[in-house]
Parts: sequence; structure tokens; C-alpha cells
Amino acid sequence: MKFQAPRGTYDILPDDNSQWNFIENIFKKVVKLYNYKELRFPIFESLELFERSVGKTSDIVEKEMYVFEDKKGRTFALRPEGTASVARAYAEHSLTSGKRDPLRLFYQGPMFRYSRPQKGRYRQFYQFGAECIGRPGALADAEIIALGWKILQEAGVPDVQLRINSVGCPDCRKTYLKQLQNYLFDRKKNFCSLCQRRMKTNPMRVFDCKNPICKDQLSDAPQMLDHLCPACQEHFESVKKYLNIMEVKFEVDPHIVRGLDYYTRTAFEYCVDYLGAQDALGGGGRYDGLIEFVGGKSTPAVGLSLGIERILLALEKRKISIPQMPSLDVFIIPMENKFIENAIEIMNNLHNENISAQIAYAGASMKSSFKFCDRNNVKFAIIIGANEVESGKYAVKNIHKREQTNIKLNKISSYIKADLT
Ligand code: HAM
Repeated sequence: MKFQAPRGTYDILPDDNSQWNFIENIFKKVVKLYNYKELRFPIFESLELFERSVGKTSDIVEKEMYVFEDKKGRTFALRPEGTASVARAYAEHSLTSGKRDPLRLFYQGPMFRYSRPQKGRYRQFYQFGAECIGRPGALADAEIIALGWKILQEAGVPDVQLRINSVGCPDCRKTYLKQLQNYLFDRKKNFCSLCQRRMKTNPMRVFDCKNPICKDQLSDAPQMLDHLCPACQEHFESVKKYLNIMEVKFEVDPHIVRGLDYYTRTAFEYCVDYLGAQDALGGGGRYDGLIEFVGGKSTPAVGLSLGIERILLALEKRKISIPQMPSLDVFIIPMENKFIENAIEIMNNLHNENISAQIAYAGASMKSSFKFCDRNNVKFAIIIGANEVESGKYAVKNIHKREQTNIKLNKISSYIKADLT
């Protein structure tokens, strides 16, 4: 029987890893610039955590969770995102970084959503996330948005559109939601069945519908931005002001409402217009009520997540080349089986000097060995034959420079190191 990776999942093969490492290194470099510290949390959590945080009426909780019972009948879910776990960990461990300083956390890893797989949408996918906890002011929002922007710029993703909005606070949203609901109910029959359901349970999510007929109906709909209370209005103005100073290009899009229920005030997405329906490379926002909601003290917070697959797809689509992984330094070629011991000694010496080296299997032809060197961009080859062993001098070939020098065993490492540094 032949097995396959489950639908919506995939293997990241060795040749693809240089792309993944490239993006991961950028992410790690940028979060370090902004002084974020890593948090690792479980792949599964109690189902209730996601129901309470992401929201019972969100698509994620309603339709997309991988839920299971353990042997004692407790119900868990594979994590569909990271923010709920960060909030849970913050509350559980009473984490802070000092009275005045916010706690800046980052994470990366696989997330799981049972959605219909297509290009850019998987059932297991990988996210980077950063969460800034403990600061209510607009500077934290702008900093988080700029951090995501910088990652995408450093990765070289072309034509990223950053869309920002404010979804208000529970106070100003209450009156707005009534007005929006009235507007939607008056036109109910013109909307798709999903929108009809959402207008009852979660009316702002109607703005997320991709159906052009529903979109048309929304052209005159009341907008949250026109109903912000003075404090939310001031916050949003400051976010925009700081982003301008940070030279982050954005547009205000009143239809950015996000698919998760925990947001307050700022909501944003990074999109491109060349990836079809799966056009969001990342998104996030402020979630001032979440930590208290999952059992902690009332604590303001703001964060973002980026989807790694979508960033890679964007680069591929626009044919942006990604630097290859550093290549193998030395390939050691014993011409016969009896020279393997000499090859091991040379490899050991090289590894002790932090020079990467690998032994060709004995009996491989010269031709296939040098083909391997070409394919893997190897810098040096060392050939071990009877003459070399007898004379104690080994043929070290600098493949890139097309030079060959005979060198004593105990000088090989320093000779190669001098060239590599
Ligand atoms: P999200 O918008 O649900 O937000 O996901 C963030 C990003 O993850 C998306 O923009 C997309 O790039 C990627 N993504 C989501 N689902 C899939 C999928 N099925 N396949 C491939 N990529 C996917 C969050 O997850 C929030 N936790 C963001 C946040 C952090 N808000 C505050 N802090």
C-alpha cells in the first residue's frame, strides 16, 4: 500500500528548504530588530479556548476546526491560529515584562484549518506571528503593522497593499451594529444565504463576502469609521500619523473586518492582487478584551500573523529569485573502498574546523562525483587514490577556480579555511 500526505497538507522537500529558510531568517531578523522574544505553545488546546477567543460564530470555529477527544473524554482542537494561545499563556503564567514595558512575543509554526484546499489555502499551513501585549496606545499598533510591512519588504514581495480600518470598541460598535443590521435586514432578500445568516449572528462579517451581488448591496451601507467614539477616532488618527512617519504605505479600507471575533479598534491586512482569492498574505489587529476573556487581567494587546506559503507563492508568481542555501564546502572522493579510512580522517579534521564535508560512496565514478559537485555547488573536491595515500599529499581541487594543489593531510583544513573566510 502506498500512502500520501493527507489532503490539504504537503511535505517541504529538501530542495524547497532554502526558500523556507530565507523567509524564516528574515522573520527572525526583523522580530529581533523590534525586540520580540519567542514563545512556543502547544499544537492543541482546549476547544473552549478557541470558541471563546476566535468566536463561536466565526467560520474557523463553526466549520474549520480539527476537534478530538482524548482518552479521558476531554475535548481539544488543533490550533487554527496562535493569538488565542498567546493570550492563554500570558494569562496562565501572569507574564509581564515590567510595569511600563509591553511584552513583545513572537511565534512560528503550523496551524490547522479544515477548509477546502486550493492554491494558497491548506489544512496545515505555517504562520509567523508577533503580539505586543500591555500597551493601549496607537504606537503599538503602528509598530506591529510596520513590523509585518518590513518583513514583506525584506522578502522582496512586490506591490503589497496594506489596508487598515478601525472596528471600534464594544461601546461604539453597539450602536453601529444596530444601524448596520437595520440596513442589511431591509435588503435581506438581495443577499446570499451565508450573508443572511451572518446578518443575524455577526453582521460586520457580511463585508467579507466575495459574492459581487452582495458586494453591490453594501456600497451605501453604514460604516464603522463614521461611528467611532472620540477615543477610538483619536486612536485611529494616531495609528495613521505614526505609520506615515514610519514611511509605511497604507490605504484605509472600511471593509476590512477580519474573520476572528476578538478585534477592537485597529484591523489590517497585507494583500496582493495577483494571487486570486487567497490574496491576504497576513493580517491582524488590536484585541484589548481577549486576555481578560480567557481568564487574565484586563490587558490591551495588538498583533499580526503572516502566512508563509502565501508569501512564497507571491514571490514565485512574480518570479522573484530566492538565494540558495549555503552549499557544501568539500566533497571527498575515495577512488577505492580501501581509502575510506583516509576519507573519514579528512572529513573529521574538516568538521572539527566547522567546514562542511561529505564522503562520496566508494566506487562512485569520477564523472558522477563531479556531477554531484556541480549540482550542489560544492567548492572543493579532495581525491584519494593510491598515489595520494603513498605520498601523504592529497589532490585538493578548487572547483570554482578550476585549480588543483597537492596538500599534506595536516594542512588540508587550514588551506580550505583560508579560502572560505
Ligand atoms: P488570519 O487572517 O486568520 O489571522 O491568518 C493570518 C494569515 O495566515 C492569512 O493572512 C494567511 O496568509 C494565512 N492563512 C490563514 N489561513 C490559511 C490557510 N488555510 N492556508 C494558508 N494560509 C492561511 C490570524 O490567524 C490572527 N491570529 C492574526 C492576529 C495575530 N491577530 C492578532 N494577532
